[in-house]
Amino acid sequence: MQILRRAEEARAFSRSCKREARRVALVPTMGYLHEGHLSLIRVAKSSASSVMVSLFVNPTQFAPGEDLDRYPRDFERDSALCRQEGVDVLFAPEATEIYPDGFSTKVSVQGPLTEGLCGARRPGHFDGVATVVAKLFTICEPDLAVFGQKDAQQAAVVGRMVRDLNLPVEIAVEPIVREADGLAMSSRNVYLSPEERTQAPVLKMALDTAQRLVLAGERDASALLREVKGVLASAPLAKVDYAEIVDTVTMEPVQILGKEALLALAVFFGATRLIDNAILKQAAKQ
Ligand code: PAF
Repeated sequence: MQILRRAEEARAFSRSCKREARRVALVPTMGYLHEGHLSLIRVAKSSASSVMVSLFVNPTQFAPGEDLDRYPRDFERDSALCRQEGVDVLFAPEATEIYPDGFSTKVSVQGPLTEGLCGARRPGHFDGVATVVAKLFTICEPDLAVFGQKDAQQAAVVGRMVRDLNLPVEIAVEPIVREADGLAMSSRNVYLSPEERTQAPVLKMALDTAQRLVLAGERDASALLREVKGVLASAPLAKVDYAEIVDTVTMEPVQILGKEALLALAVFFGATRLIDNAILKQAAKQ
């Protein structure tokens, strides 16, 4: 596995693959890899002959006061995991490589897609994501890029950016990977105290409750959210940032559920903010 630090090296690698008619897949990450990331890498491996993983803790997607400085990092472990998974290139640039002096461009996906959920709570977050992902795409020139469903709004934003800008990359969005007790895997889970960690699976319990109610015929989003908040309140350390039911494509609030809708949660445990979601589906007609 090659570890590349420079954008031009990453692009040269990708172009050399293309010359040999090899399909290139990119898995963008901020490192501190867990099974969720590894599942994305495995999808990339099974769909392309060359796999690039980017590891870059992107400063522009953290709002002032967020956890940029303490975001967990372990380059040695991350590179060992990538090597084990058969990754061809780990692209791990310095911040100055991505944002050189005088950097003054922003990619901004606007409108309802970024106005609610995390877009409302984390000002500038999705501009930072869209800008860095656009850069990673133009640097690595992947045929395919793989993202996780856990960041459902991020995946929707990236998909919209790709469509709007005609970027020549296919986007795959892969299922959430969970711990045995249901907690969605996240690099931020390491912040949780033992007591918070014990209570954190309440997010999955709330998602499951909503899915059960939908299968039992409930269609009213307010009624579902009342139940969801009730479950979340059973964990004394959980402070709800948002619990919303939105359209899976536009991310706009839904009042009455159709065939499917996204239930998205953001919940604080102390200073740690966890997100999780589920696509609520009606039972298939017999
Ligand atoms: O999901 C993440 O880890 C980040 O938001 C991403 C897509 C790597 C952009 O920095």
